[in-house]
Amino acid sequence: MESEKFWDARYREQPKSWGVDPNIFLSQIDLQGLSSSVDLAGGNGRNSLWLADQGLKAENVDISSVALEQFLERAEQRDISDKCLATQSDATTAKFQLTPELLVIAYLQIPASEFAKAFHNALAQVADGAKVFGVWHAVENLEDGYGGPPSKDVLVSKDQLEQLASEHSWKQLKIENRNREINTEDGVKIAIDVVLEGTLSS
Ligand SMILES: C[S@@+](CC[C@H](N)C(=O)[O-])C[C@H]1O[C@@H](n2cnc3c(N)ncnc32)[C@H](O)[C@@H]1O
Repeated sequence: MESEKFWDARYREQPKSWGVDPNIFLSQIDLQGLSSSVDLAGGNGRNSLWLADQGLKAENVDISSVALEQFLERAEQRDISDKCLATQSDATTAKFQLTPELLVIAYLQIPASEFAKAFHNALAQVADGAKVFGVWHAVENLEDGYGGPPSKDVLVSKDQLEQLASEHSWKQLKIENRNREINTEDGVKIAIDVVLEGTLSS
């Protein structure tokens, strides 16, 4: 599979691409009462490792087996292997091991039709009343923001998320663009993300 080979090579060559710290917006959500998470397209695990550090059982589902090997190695180094599970799969058809109370999707940047399949497939497998957190490079980032994919085809819009979210029933839901600061050799740059935070109805 092309995508799998692409991402395996990327993780072999640049294992530090996304760093070790969790996404800033994820690190700000309230985890109280949550005991399990699925991190869809979790890469080599910065978000899952942080969630496991917070005491959650954390399943990382990614298309790249190289990323997942790196995730499990990092979990071992942090002595949290008992909290971490890895599932190698395409997000559009993935079958989770857990029925998570928290679903995280961070920067899964794939074409819109596949993105819709992945989104609905994931939401169909979460626990009743689960919390959902998603963050993506927004379409606005192409012209006005720093970094991120250079193709509009895989950038995500607020409208697109609202449309997808409308097919599910929410107790609360917020979808908005947010600026994220990135430290570079040329100073601080601003990336524009679109963030979804919600709780599904139980
Ligand atoms: C930009 S990285 C983000 C990784 C991680 N979520 C993070 O924020 O550190 C995108 C991830 O999506 C994964 N990915 C790409 N296409 C995928 C697909 N169809 N199904 C599952 N994972 C996929 C890649 O392997 C990669 O780990």
